Amino acid sequence: MVDFAVYVKNLIKVYGGKVKALDDVNLMVEAGETFALLGPNGAGKTTLMRILTTQLKPSAGEAYVFGLNVTRDSGKVRKLISYVPQEMSVWTDISGYENLLIYAKVFGVPRLEREKMIDEALDIMGLSDVKGELVRTYSGGMIRRLEIACAMLVKPRIMFLDEPTIGLDPGARKIVWEKLNLFKKEYGVTIFFNTHYMDEADLYADDIAIIDRGKMVARGTSEELKHSVGGEVVSFTLENHQSKPWLLEEISRLKFVRGVFMENRDLNILVDDAESSLPYITDLLKSKALSVNRISITKPTLDDVFLKYTGARLEERGRVSDVRQMRYMIRRG
Ligand SMILES: Nc1ncnc2c1ncn2[C@@H]1O[C@H](COP(=O)(O)OP(=O)(O)O)[C@@H](O)[C@H]1O
Ligand SMILES: [Mg+2]
Repeated sequence: MVDFAVYVKNLIKVYGGKVKALDDVNLMVEAGETFALLGPNGAGKTTLMRILTTQLKPSAGEAYVFGLNVTRDSGKVRKLISYVPQEMSVWTDISGYENLLIYAKVFGVPRLEREKMIDEALDIMGLSDVKGELVRTYSGGMIRRLEIACAMLVKPRIMFLDEPTIGLDPGARKIVWEKLNLFKKEYGVTIFFNTHYMDEADLYADDIAIIDRGKMVARGTSEELKHSVGGEVVSFTLENHQSKPWLLEEISRLKFVRGVFMENRDLNILVDDAESSLPYITDLLKSKALSVNRISITKPTLDDVFLKYTGARLEERGRVSDVRQMRYMIRRG
């Protein structure tokens, strides 16, 4: 348990005796990794993060951060963590630098170290040039980076980020993650983030857990999760196609092939792993003197994973509140 950055056992959270936001959650996150808790809006992500950051008490079960119980040892836990909430957590009518100075004072960064640490944080987050400007004039992405800069001043062992790039355009999201990864490399911090964006989990997390309606439904690396959906499709567009039943027959006899079918000139083959199967199939086609115009590989996405484990599309389940959150982000500028 001590070895894990986060260890959660049979955690339950019920709001107001009615809403079961977390329903017997078990979770382990290893130190040093970037972990994504992926799920639609209302799944329970923020609730779990607020429990782990000692802001909320569980109804039942236990949770530990680096071996410390979040309820019993909350004071010690707070010394190891930092937290960037989903809502804006900086002041807009002062400068970025002033925001950092306030954080540094509140969190007791020694006076002599303040200047150096603030400059370092601004530098890593790519905000040195605008440190004197009012935060009001920052873009959404710059504000998010400032919030992360504030959270890193205390040099946490684990950083909790609730929807770190919600409402940001893809370019701004990319920069936020580039800077975060710089920070991670520099300090070896564990990153635990919530997201309802599949591609964010896919691109940036070493490890992913999928949560839906308070229950953990799947766990693994992006590759493992996609693999669990069952197979990839390799498609060959054949140059001259006349129906060749013997070809389909022969391909279906290969032991890694799970299915094969023709669709116009496309020969589609369902396999466990496209990359390793590809050479065998190309060899076979070559030996039959069949020329191929185009090869494509279709891999399952995390949305397919979500569909498999919950019977719904991730996008559909979150749509309404997502629009609301986008509006909120736009309003805040
Ligand atoms: N303070 C609260 N009181 C009552 N219900 C809440 C409260 N906070 C969250 N909920 C409910 O708990 C569920 C999980 O919410 P939340 O943890 O915010 O999900 P997520 O962060 O994944 O969107 C939702 O049904 C939400 O409406
Ligand atoms: Mg949330």
